[in-house]
Amino acid sequence: MGININFKRFVEKSNSMFYVTSLKGEILYINDFGKSLLGITPDDINSGINVQSFYLFSEDRADFIQDLQKGEIIQEHEIRLINSYGKKIIGHEQSYIVPRSSGVDLVYGSVNDISDFIELNLNTARLNLELADINQKLQDAYTSMAQQEKMATIGELAAGVAHEINNPLGFIISNTNSVGRYIKILTEIFTKIKKTYNINAVEGIDQLEFILTDLGEVLKENKDGLRRIATITDSLKRFSRMGDENNKSNFDLNQAIKDTLTIAKTQYKYIADIELNLGDIPPVFCNGDSINQVLLNLIVNAAHAIDSLDPKERGLISIQTSVKDADVVFQVTDSGSGISDSIKNKIFDPFFTTKEVGKGTGLGLSLCYDIIVQKHGGKIWVENSSQGGAIFSFTLPGGNYGK
Ligand SMILES: Nc1ncnc2c1ncn2[C@@H]1O[C@H](COP(=O)(O)OP(=O)(O)OP(=O)(O)O)[C@@H](O)[C@H]1O
Ligand SMILES: [Mg+2]
Repeated sequence: MGININFKRFVEKSNSMFYVTSLKGEILYINDFGKSLLGITPDDINSGINVQSFYLFSEDRADFIQDLQKGEIIQEHEIRLINSYGKKIIGHEQSYIVPRSSGVDLVYGSVNDISDFIELNLNTARLNLELADINQKLQDAYTSMAQQEKMATIGELAAGVAHEINNPLGFIISNTNSVGRYIKILTEIFTKIKKTYNINAVEGIDQLEFILTDLGEVLKENKDGLRRIATITDSLKRFSRMGDENNKSNFDLNQAIKDTLTIAKTQYKYIADIELNLGDIPPVFCNGDSINQVLLNLIVNAAHAIDSLDPKERGLISIQTSVKDADVVFQVTDSGSGISDSIKNKIFDPFFTTKEVGKGTGLGLSLCYDIIVQKHGGKIWVENSSQGGAIFSFTLPGGNYGK
């Protein structure tokens, strides 16, 4: 019987709770650890205290008894208790039902307090989540810094190159116009000479006639090309830090959207319907001309995306404005093809375009980025909508009007 005595001593001294209760929950035996864990006094035992009163959720007890009655095997589970001082305890319980001939079955069990362990796990999980969040923020900050750095360098370079190109471009355009005028005069004189004199016999006269006609065509193409170069240098010049970017004032973004839609009508009227959801937004302190430029680029891009998906299918361009955390938010959603992951990182780069040569300069979005991020301290980003099209959004810091 030595084992019994030693075993009793072990149970008494153990750092786990050991107990014996009736099926109804009256405590018949509980070791010292159990008493201090639950906050039970000897009087409580004498007055027939019931374990039910220590369940954090009383319905747990009924489930537990049901499990126990499934058979004569040890049941293990997590138990949620609350002691008489109001402290919540999570324990790992192992229990066993002992049927007795008297019909009053007993429950033998032990509970290990795993509250600290659970708390530690929860804290670790919470820390992991925070860490993942911080990592994501770091990654975002890094991407945005890298993009800003790249844009600033490219911006300065582009503005410098545009400035250099602009002078020669100016006199080439002016000289081309002069050449055009000269050709016109030459053609008129030639026609008069031809009418007045019989020059058909002059050698090479046919060739001269052809050259005069063809020169007109050649010049027209040249002018077209020059106009395209001028558009590019104009856009590049806007990258410059200087200029009218300092010229900021209070600006009604909602009105600007309506004005831009009027101006750009020819670009979308055969392609898409427009849905406006303009919120109640405060005026934005910004350079209105540049923001108009951004609106135009985004709306024209949306129309192009819809058109290139299926020129026969009419699409939808939805425009929304709102306020979030004191920022004014603009959002344009189109029913185009959306933006594939492979080009998502490139679309804001200068000269990145998927359009045919001559159709797109690839400067539209880089200009938008420069205007929104560099010149106004806002944000611009793109997502794909669940319907497949693209959603371009930008924010402008609000709350600084009148500065
Ligand atoms: N709404 C959109 N849906 C799908 N792709 C888009 C959208 N907007 C832009 N893109 C993609 O991003 C590229 C770059 O756009 P960006 O406006 O910078 O230049 P572009 O439109 O090609 O030329 P530009 O604006 O100079 O005429 C486009 O060629 C297109 O591939
Ligand atoms: Mg564009």
